[in-house]
Amino acid sequence: MEKTFIMVKPDGVKRHLIGEVVKQYEQKGLILVAGKLMVISEELAKKHYAEHVDKPFFGELVSFITSGPVFAMVWQGNDAVVIGRKINGKTKHLEADLASIRGRFATNTAFNVVHGSDSLESAEREINLFFDESEFV
Ligand code: PPS
Repeated sequence: MEKTFIMVKPDGVKRHLIGEVVKQYEQKGLILVAGKLMVISEELAKKHYAEHVDKPFFGELVSFITSGPVFAMVWQGNDAVVIGRKINGKTKHLEADLASIRGRFATNTAFNVVHGSDSLESAEREINLFFDESEFV
């Protein structure tokens, strides 16, 4: 059983898409084992996106992800990481399959509704950044 970190970003929360995202994961058979509505601190945002620190858009990325509430979740199941990436769709909204969340709802690459771990290693790192052991059901 794998775990993956999935987050509805501030644009997705503002657009009332939490339920739509949760529905996709539930219908695919993954199990929600932790979840919370939260506002990300600048410190946590910088840690979460540390691999992008040298990118020209790093400042925008941090200010966007801290701009309003996000809905952070951990989903569990066989191949959860790959399934999460397929449900979310490609990062660049124009390349995302039209059946995916980003394909259906994203308006550009920055405001792309959801984040999902891109590997088992990043899933473990991101889950540990956002959740304590006591928050798992
Ligand atoms: S890269 O350069 O290919 O490694 O970056 P990419 O994987 O496409 O994107 C990494 C995350 O940065 C977000 N992103 C942006 N944010 C703000 N402005 C711009 N221009 C921008 N371009 C990409 C993108 O949504 C990714 O966020 P996550 O949360 O990882 O999906």
